Formats: sequence, structure tokens, C-alpha cells
Amino acid sequence: MKALVLAGGTGSRLRPLTHTSAKQLVPIANKPVLFYGIESLVAAGITDIGIVTGGTAAEIEATVGDGSRFGARVTYLPQGEPLGLAHAVLIARDWLGEDDFVMYLGDNIIVDGIDELVADFHAPRPDARVLLAKVADPCAFGVAELDPEGRVVRLEEKPRAPRSDLALVGVYLFTPVVHRAIRAISPSARGELEITDALQWLVAHDYVVRPTVITGYWKDTGNAADMLEANRCVLESVVPARLGSVDAASELVGRVRVEPGAKIVRSRIVGPAVIGGDSVITDSHIGASTAVGRDCVITGSEVEFSIVLDGSRIDHAGRLEGSLIGRGVEVSGARRAPRAHRLVLADHSKVQLTS
Ligand code: G1P
Repeated sequence: MKALVLAGGTGSRLRPLTHTSAKQLVPIANKPVLFYGIESLVAAGITDIGIVTGGTAAEIEATVGDGSRFGARVTYLPQGEPLGLAHAVLIARDWLGEDDFVMYLGDNIIVDGIDELVADFHAPRPDARVLLAKVADPCAFGVAELDPEGRVVRLEEKPRAPRSDLALVGVYLFTPVVHRAIRAISPSARGELEITDALQWLVAHDYVVRPTVITGYWKDTGNAADMLEANRCVLESVVPARLGSVDAASELVGRVRVEPGAKIVRSRIVGPAVIGGDSVITDSHIGASTAVGRDCVITGSEVEFSIVLDGSRIDHAGRLEGSLIGRGVEVSGARRAPRAHRLVLADHSKVQLTS
């Protein structure tokens, strides 16, 4: 079995971050989203991996390399234009040959992995297997309708009136019959060859598309809110470690990982959190649910429920919350004349100052 990992696309919902970087390389708990997918595939025993790339091909190739660091063999398959998920399969047709394959969208994260799903596929070997998850906003996804016996009866891409709340997760298992389906479909209203339409073609032509509804954590990290949420979830299982230096005036609370070379000075880090290698945190409060990349300098600030990428500086910035901060960013508090409160307060007064 092979795997086709999709790492093209424009990442429009993650702009401006994706103006300079591939959306699949934005880190979750200090590791690119794409790596979680590749690691899940290798854990499921799939090491022959084709990665479909677009405009960010050079960055993806430089980061993933030949796959040997994952114990995989990676082949790059450039997609000239982002013409849809099924189009990506079309351009990978020769490489895929007559093998069964897993198609894995490089911006999806499935915390429980896919070992069981892959193992289960071989025995009954349906024509295709899809993963589904209940979502609150089915209009934003491909949606599957099941009959009372749990068989897929209909699939629709981003329907206006969804017939269920079961979204297609970005991991699909296919036999080569999918190539027939892809040849038979035409581009959707958004001008893309949709994999959902290919699956619908299979259903309509009496091929067996078996669903598995997953209950574990899954996220399509297409936008900043989803990214932060995935970061929060993955950090829950971060392995705590104190590999850098933490001075006596600092405190680490809960699951905190301080990478080698990092320095924590007069600060409080509340887990789950990770502080990347060679970052320096001084007079600050970090966490919970925060990942700070490598070579960052955070001074006199509070950062909570955020992702801070490599080489950024946060200097007396007050309190940052729910923020996604790119590489080499500088955030600093505006310099202004100190403001004074002049107070004449009667005994036992209670006053709350906001600044
Ligand atoms: C794609 C698929 C959609 C699926 C989703 C899962 O959507 O077209 O069917 O539910 O991935 O992440 P996109 O992220 O391209 O909008």
C-alpha cells in the first residue's frame, strides 16, 4: 500500500502566515502539521509516500527531505495548479500504479493515528473507505449521508443544506477503481476536481464505500482558530522535560517542556506548554496551551493559548491571548509616558484599575 500526501494548495484561510510559508509546515506543538501525518502513515506501516506539492514545493522538499528521517521513502509529485484533490490523484496516477493507497491531506491532524483503519482495510477490502466525524458546521466540509444500516448513500462537497452532520475527514483509503471514478467526473462549481464527487460516483455505480465514524480528536488546520485548538489538544500529551535552564525565581506548573538551550528567568510557565530550543523567557508568564518556537525572546509579557514561531520577539507587550505569531515577528509595547493615577481614597475603598 502507498500513501499520497497532499501538500499543495494556497492556504488562503491562513493568510498572512501562508504568504511566506506552506500551510502544512505551520507547527503544532513545535512540529509541522505535515510531520504528524507522515508519522501516522509510517506507524501504520506505509513507507512508500508520494507528496503532491504546489507553489511551496521548495520549502516542503527542504523540510521533509527524502523521508529517511521518518523511515519512509518520499517521491515528490508537483501539481502545476491547485485544481482539486481528485486532480492531485490524477497527476499521481502513474506513480500510484495499481496499488491501494491512503490519501492524506497534509493539513489534517488525527491524534489517534490511522493504524487500525489501515489494518482493517485489507481484510474486507471495500472499494474505498472514508473517515467521518461529527461537526458543528458541516457546510464547510464534504458531507456524507448514511442509511440506517450505516452505509454511505450520498456524498456532497460543502453543501448549502447538509443532509447530515458527518464531515469527511481528510484521510481516504482507495483501491485503484478510484481512477475510473476520477476520469468520469468533471470540475465542480469552484473549478476543482473534487474527491467527494469521485466518491459519489463510486456510490452511484454500486461500488462499496465503507465509512468509519471516528470519535477521537481530528482537526483540519485550515484556519488560525483550528490551528490554536489543535495545538492545545496536541500539547495535552507533550512529554514534560527540563532540558534548558530554569532559574530559582521561575516556576514550571504542569506539563511543560523546555527544550535544550532555552532559558527561563524570573518567569512562570503553565502547562501544557513547550518552549523551543535557545529561546529566552524573562519576567514573563507563558501558558497554558502555548507553544513557543526556537530562538524566541519574550520579555515582560504574558502569552496564553498561542503559537509563537521561531525567532520572534515579544517585548513588554502586555497580555497576548489566542494569537498565532509568525517567524521573526517583533511585538512590543508602545512606548509612552508613564500614566499615573492620583488617588485620594477613603478607608476600606475598593478600586479596580484596568491599566
Ligand atoms: C477538503 C475536502 C472536504 C473535506 C476536508 C477535510 O476540504 O474537499 O471534503 O471534508 O478537506 O479536511 P478543503 O480543506 O479543501 O476545503
